[in-house]
Amino acid sequence: MQIYSRIADLRQTLQQTRARGEKIAFVPTMGNLHDGHLVLMRAARAYAFTVVASVFVNRLQFGSGEDFDRYPRTLAEDVEKLAAVGVHALFAPDERELYPEPQGYFVEPPELQHLLEGEFRPGHFRGVATVVLKLFNAVQPDVAIFGKKDYQQLMLIRAMTRQLALPIEIIGIDTVRAEDGLALSSRNNYLSAAERAEAPRLYQVLCELREAILGDGAQNIEELTAEARNNLDSNGWQTDYLAVRRQSDLGAPSQYANQEKLVLVAAARLGSTRLIDNLEV
Ligand code: PAF
Repeated sequence: MQIYSRIADLRQTLQQTRARGEKIAFVPTMGNLHDGHLVLMRAARAYAFTVVASVFVNRLQFGSGEDFDRYPRTLAEDVEKLAAVGVHALFAPDERELYPEPQGYFVEPPELQHLLEGEFRPGHFRGVATVVLKLFNAVQPDVAIFGKKDYQQLMLIRAMTRQLALPIEIIGIDTVRAEDGLALSSRNNYLSAAERAEAPRLYQVLCELREAILGDGAQNIEELTAEARNNLDSNGWQTDYLAVRRQSDLGAPSQYANQEKLVLVAAARLGSTRLIDNLEV
């Protein structure tokens, strides 16, 4: 696996790749790779001969008081894992390479950026969209792969790609979970042993809510959601949001929700760790 820290060097190599008629699949990450990321890398291999990954902890998408400084940086281990799953090239720029001057131009996503995650992390999706567009410009992939765990992020990136007419196919891959159901995330590393034991409740609560809605609960969504939230809060969580939304636009479903495809979305804190999860209905 080749490792690139400079956009110009990466571009030169990928130009040759394209000249050979090979497709490029791209998996952007912030590093500290776990099995969930490696599933994305393996999936990428099904879409293109050449797989490029990136590792970059993007300051722009972290709010003040968030975990930018303590976000785990484990590049040496990441390199080993990426090489072992057959990634061809890693782009791992430093901040000066990606932001050589203060960023004055941004991708400003539409209203969707202010809902759910956006309400609790103002500016987050503007930072994500801006860096993803810069990474897309550096790599110029045919296909880009994202996890469905960041459901709202995936929706925003799909819409950005479509509306800015980027010639890139966006693929969403199902969330990878530990045996007890906890969605894999780099932030799971922050959990104490007791918190780790409690953490699967987030997914369990979503599964129970899905069962209830699929039963006869579609007319009682508010009541069922309040119960689910109460289950978390009475077990030591602080719930930022737990909501039933339309898959199409993350808006609140109408009364006749049976006609609409739904997704359950949640973000909650255990101690100082904020976990997110979602479940399609
Ligand atoms: O999902 C992530 O890891 C990040 O938000 C991304 C897409 C790599 C942008 O920094």
